[in-house]
Amino acid sequence: MCGIFSYLGNQSNAGKLVVEGLKKLEYRGYDSFGFVEAVPATSSGQGNGKLKLTKKVGKISEFPLSTFYFPISNLALGHTRWATHGKVNLRNAHPHLSADGKVAVVHNGIVENHAELRKELQKKGVKFASDTDTEVIPNLIASYLTPRFTGGLREAVRRAAKKLKGRFAFVAAAEGAEKLVAARSGSPLIVGIEKFYPKSDDRLISKIDGSAFFIASDVPAFLKFTRDVVYLDDGEMVEIEPSPKNDHFHAHFFEIENGKTVKKRVISIDWKSGKAEKGDFAHFMLKEIFEQKETIERALNQDERQIEKVAELIRKSFGAFFIGCGTAGKVCATAEYLFAKIARRHVNVIFGSEFDTQEPFLTNKTLLIAVSQSGETADVLEAFKIAKKRGVRTVGVVNVEGSSVARHSDVVLPVNAGMEKAVASTKATTAQLAILTLLAYAVAGKLDEGKQMLAEAASQINDLLNPRYSEHLEKIARKIKNVESLYIIGKAADYPMALEAAIKLQEVSYIHAEGFAAGELKHGPLALITKGTPLIAFVPAEEYRADVLSNVAEVKARGGRIIGVSAENDELFDEWIRVPNVGNAQPIVNIIPIQLLAYHLAVLRKNNPDLPRNLAKSVTVK
Ligand code: G6P
Repeated sequence: MCGIFSYLGNQSNAGKLVVEGLKKLEYRGYDSFGFVEAVPATSSGQGNGKLKLTKKVGKISEFPLSTFYFPISNLALGHTRWATHGKVNLRNAHPHLSADGKVAVVHNGIVENHAELRKELQKKGVKFASDTDTEVIPNLIASYLTPRFTGGLREAVRRAAKKLKGRFAFVAAAEGAEKLVAARSGSPLIVGIEKFYPKSDDRLISKIDGSAFFIASDVPAFLKFTRDVVYLDDGEMVEIEPSPKNDHFHAHFFEIENGKTVKKRVISIDWKSGKAEKGDFAHFMLKEIFEQKETIERALNQDERQIEKVAELIRKSFGAFFIGCGTAGKVCATAEYLFAKIARRHVNVIFGSEFDTQEPFLTNKTLLIAVSQSGETADVLEAFKIAKKRGVRTVGVVNVEGSSVARHSDVVLPVNAGMEKAVASTKATTAQLAILTLLAYAVAGKLDEGKQMLAEAASQINDLLNPRYSEHLEKIARKIKNVESLYIIGKAADYPMALEAAIKLQEVSYIHAEGFAAGELKHGPLALITKGTPLIAFVPAEEYRADVLSNVAEVKARGGRIIGVSAENDELFDEWIRVPNVGNAQPIVNIIPIQLLAYHLAVLRKNNPDLPRNLAKSVTVK
């Protein structure tokens, strides 16, 4: 979902700094990008004059810094777009300016009442230049900023924010004002503070001093400069402006509703910026697949008291719901099988976007366990709102520390996979799977047994992931790279993995891929099998092996080309992808070769595996 990044501080290359930061947020959207720089009114660099706008269609990573001319400026705001309202073109790219060109806004979210607001503004004579919902925001702000208005940019932004329905995070700047004002309701917004100097050790403060401030959708944009951050919460806004002596900058925090000051906590995060580099790998996706050599082990490194606490919450709950979206939703779906088998316990699984349908069953005995890599997925956050309303306890299994899910969960189990950059999730997926498996063991009262079993699986994965294995998958990819469709089957916890395998293949190879429960194939999808149609089958080593092989035979008899993912070869297989036999950790192991297969298919089909078309890593709209 769109990425926002803005800067106000003591450096005079704000535009360049914002473009560099936006490059780190590209995973949030890559249809177009743009930025505004406040250009000083005088040649000696004093005062803020006009807003200079630059926009481009395409991926920001494809534009070297030399493409741009950066004037002297200490204030800039930028945006990388994942289109929602309005086609991908230059006029719909952000930032958007008010019709008089005096207010600039970058926005992430959806203004649900944009049509109504647009009509109101049009009646007042405002001419719109884009098809976006966002454009109403700078125009609303500008409509308050009349010569008689004494509230300034902050009050104009507050009034505009109060009129918006939907989810939003936006940053505004105005001609002639050395200020950034931002507001949040639903979409993430984080303030980074360079050279943070509190007057005391108390980090809960309403006014913060710093040499420079950043406002971004995510931390990587400014990690190079600072680790001191303030997370804006829903309904809050921030104003950044120079100190009276003009020797540093202040940030003040307010409530959108009534303009009252709010106290915020400055947090020092311990992200490592180095982790976001590709190193020797051609793509982040491949690097992250290989990082699974260690990330599964890291996921097991949980505070045992926290795991036991969650296990107790599950045992005591009347209705435990695992929720997630996309890949995380498929991870959740394995819980149904893992908990049944390991802990003899029924749990509910539902996509984040469907959770509202369960509201009649939610009580203060219900438990919500949200699985999310980013911790910012709008559908998951909506589920949290419903949960809170009903007094439901919440647990977050989340990778991004400090994210909304992490901050709003009663208990957090950190995924510890490190920053995941490729849009298609890989290392976060297997780490989440490991945690849910561990949790099932904890509920069964067998945490140590679970840990041992998973540690053994992690070491087998370490052995498996080597260049030869990747080459083997590449060879298979070459054989199937031109197929129109392929299918994946699995039974029990391998069934959700068949669904996850399908997503992985769809996301980066753009081949039509579908996953089925192995036994379901004969009830319809078998009609789709013709000579040479590839079928990837997760064939268990022991339990259910015979069942799944029967389903495979049915496809083979109709000319299907069988790619068996199994600890042992079988005469039905045209291709064999070897995986170790790791018992209840099998779903974790099985998905890894398919991640590699998807990666190689993407590269062979000349797709960018890191930035698949039409997608974004973090989807912060409903
Ligand atoms: C988006 C991404 C998917 C991801 C899903 C859930 O759709 O493209 O890769 O699985 O969001 O994201 P989360 O951050 O909540 O795990």
